[in-house]
Amino acid sequence: MLRRASTASLFTLTLERDATAPPLYRQVYDQVRLAVLEGRLPPGARLPSSRVLAAELRCSRNTVVGAFEQLLAEGYLEGHVGSGTYVSRVLPDELLSARPIATQRPAEEAAGPGLGRRGQRLAQLDPPGLPARRADAPRAFVPGMPETAFFPFPVWGRLVGRFWRVPPRELLRPGEPGGFRPLREAIAAYLRAVRALPVEPEQIFVTSGAQQALDLVARLLLDPGDEVWIEDPGYAGLRGPLLAAGAEIVPLSVDAEGIDVSEGVRKAPQARMAAVTPARQYPLGLPMSLARRLELLAWAQATEAWVVEDDYDSEYRYAGRPLAPLQSLDEGAGRVVYVGSLSKVLFPSIRLGYLVVPPSLVEPVTRARAVLEDYPALALQPALAAFIQEGHFAAHLRRMRALYQARQDALLEAAKRHLSGLLDLSGSEAGLHLLGRLKIEGLSDHAASKAAAAAGLLVSPLSAYYYQDPPLGGTNAILLGFSAVPEEVMDRQVQRLAQALERAPQGVV
Ligand SMILES: Cc1ncc(COP(=O)(O)O)c(C=O)c1O
Repeated sequence: MLRRASTASLFTLTLERDATAPPLYRQVYDQVRLAVLEGRLPPGARLPSSRVLAAELRCSRNTVVGAFEQLLAEGYLEGHVGSGTYVSRVLPDELLSARPIATQRPAEEAAGPGLGRRGQRLAQLDPPGLPARRADAPRAFVPGMPETAFFPFPVWGRLVGRFWRVPPRELLRPGEPGGFRPLREAIAAYLRAVRALPVEPEQIFVTSGAQQALDLVARLLLDPGDEVWIEDPGYAGLRGPLLAAGAEIVPLSVDAEGIDVSEGVRKAPQARMAAVTPARQYPLGLPMSLARRLELLAWAQATEAWVVEDDYDSEYRYAGRPLAPLQSLDEGAGRVVYVGSLSKVLFPSIRLGYLVVPPSLVEPVTRARAVLEDYPALALQPALAAFIQEGHFAAHLRRMRALYQARQDALLEAAKRHLSGLLDLSGSEAGLHLLGRLKIEGLSDHAASKAAAAAGLLVSPLSAYYYQDPPLGGTNAILLGFSAVPEEVMDRQVQRLAQALERAPQGVV
């Protein structure tokens, strides 16, 4: 607990440290933001230095710096971290209109609206894909955003019409909890052919996106209090399902081979689940080594833990052979559930994905799903089944793979011209984004992201992907999504980024 008098107000920061609490930097951010909006921190009030605040809160200075950088980026504070940070004298109207949002209250004050404790936690999380949702107009470099201009909508429209102009009767009757049967067959055939996954259609559950698959897995396989290993940094969208299931999150570091299994065995040997992105670690972009895959599976098999394999963008591989999915290496042990998404292969608003469960889970998941959420609307599933079966899916993928490869090359070429000395970028054999290491002394990733935002670009700071405090000095990196930036504008956008980085204020971090 910290009490600190400033010129006109008293404000209190309290950090919760139990495993289900939001990350510390997020708690500092939320509480300072609320104090500003409620006027407890008046315009012009000077905040304590990050060093003093960190010492009083007994957290790392990086935690406070991360929170302050975010508040500076959003306009609540002004000045520079390290040389005096003040509450903004003029708060933009849209910030003031955010005042009644109860979701931003510190946990201890949030009991009012009648949400349960779990609901309060969920309501305080940022939804997955937030930067793209917030962007009013498409902006360059949003990570994971597919190009939608080349999606064959005329074909798609024809297929949707084929099923719905005069719908066959079976489409109008209650369906199966696993989803539309021909779609499950088409996905199974695709996974067998492309990912070498020996799956049967019964094992496939069509979901409304990978996100719902993760939620279903967490609800059905976990009990409150169960420990779950997650990658840190990792996919923030995983936290909601885990918190909703009452899980204890155990963040593990990620090295060049993937999640640190030995750290997991040290910290939480009896964890009930590990959730990983083995094809391409999100967001660092490296594949999990075969040795690490086998180590993870050996642990899961020995302790009867579940492994959730989030295969969110493995369709986009430009060179080399993909490593076998964990589910295919599991050799009949049945410990791996596989999650796939169609958001990046088709378009994000389609909200379709799938879960592939081991044979032992087919029956219980079918029954449980029937009493929970059932299957997603059948409106698009028949069209998608035909889209896959008639070869349009494979053709679209081939086309997009070539397009994204060309866009990545264009990004790397433009980076050579404009970003040398500012940002280190190297190519990736897969995926839709690159990680760039900032080379400007004293420029944090949050400050770089803020500078880019001012230039109309959406560049994500790596530290935003950390569950725990980001490591000191280890997060001077930003994510650059290249998939939605046309080649002909890439050079101009990279140049804008370079100018923004050159002009960015360099705080003492
Ligand atoms: C690592 C990762 N997992 C899961 C998802 C969720 O995908 P969906 O849109 O299908 O819910 C995403 C989306 O960006 C992701 O990046």
